[in-house]
Amino acid sequence: MAFPQQRLRRTRRNAALRGLVRETHLTPGDFIYPIFVAAGEDVKNPIASMPGIFQLSINHAVAEAKRAHSLGIPGVLLFGIPDEKDEAASGAYDAEGIVQLATRAIKDALPGLLVVTDVCLCEYMSHGHCGVVEKDTGEVLNDVSLELLARTASSHAEAGADIVAPSDMMDGRVAAIRADLDREGFENTPIMAYAAKYASAFYGPFREAAGSAPQFGDRRSYQMDPANAREALVETELDVEEGADIVMVKPALPYLDVVRRVREATDLPVAAYNVSGEYAMIKAAAQNGWIDEERAVMEALTGIKRAGADIIISYHAPDVAGWLAG
Ligand code: PBG
Repeated sequence: MAFPQQRLRRTRRNAALRGLVRETHLTPGDFIYPIFVAAGEDVKNPIASMPGIFQLSINHAVAEAKRAHSLGIPGVLLFGIPDEKDEAASGAYDAEGIVQLATRAIKDALPGLLVVTDVCLCEYMSHGHCGVVEKDTGEVLNDVSLELLARTASSHAEAGADIVAPSDMMDGRVAAIRADLDREGFENTPIMAYAAKYASAFYGPFREAAGSAPQFGDRRSYQMDPANAREALVETELDVEEGADIVMVKPALPYLDVVRRVREATDLPVAAYNVSGEYAMIKAAAQNGWIDEERAVMEALTGIKRAGADIIISYHAPDVAGWLAG
């Protein structure tokens, strides 16, 4: 006698049946792959806390973008590591800045690959904060930072960026960037806003990779408190009102509830950023033989998609595309 309880077991009996009833499928087309582009020639510096990830000069960044493209990954996200920093982040909006040059080189070589650029000031500021800092108080000044962020975004669009992605978390930056893009003739360049970006310990390896750790204080005055989920909906709503085309939650794995809630709160595309520390954890455990890397990565990333993300930004993207291709 077959009990109704056996129904689920019947559909799990073999791989073909499991495939037939599977609810969530990862494909290479889900991913955006971050690349760290460094100034200089023929640079390929390994990032110790992110095995497999490098700081790459433009020639190597183009090669890495080609590899991603040939694996079916639709886009790359560029971060710049300039050779000089100052207190006005002038490298961020320099027409010949590292991201601008890399964007041109990648779009020249691979017109069909989407180039997304991270719009932030921290990599270009000598103090490592995401905005302009008032000298006496050390306070990050919101409104003066907006102008520099907007210039940065338009300079990326001018260089050929397909999408600009502000990650600074200053208030009002989506509106400021939208207005500047429109004024400069880039009405068709979408904004992917880091809408709910938490003040997270999981950015540690990134800050080593990008050389962007704050020299004093922390980012808690502009990034979100990990304890808050409703606030993420407020942040998202503001970014949507200001003109965001895609909204992002970051990090991903400790915030899957937030991914789900943002998914339910908006019908716009939702991105989730599987950040450097999430990557480092799996890599470190795998290198120690403590975890099966492929299975752990596929499980974690499937979870992000199942939570509601349309787009997954992940350093694992080429590995996943390779595994999916068999
Ligand atoms: C820049 C920025 C950060 C990340 C993306 N853009 C770091 C930060 O806010 O300190 C983190 C990405 C990652 O950890 O993979 N503001």
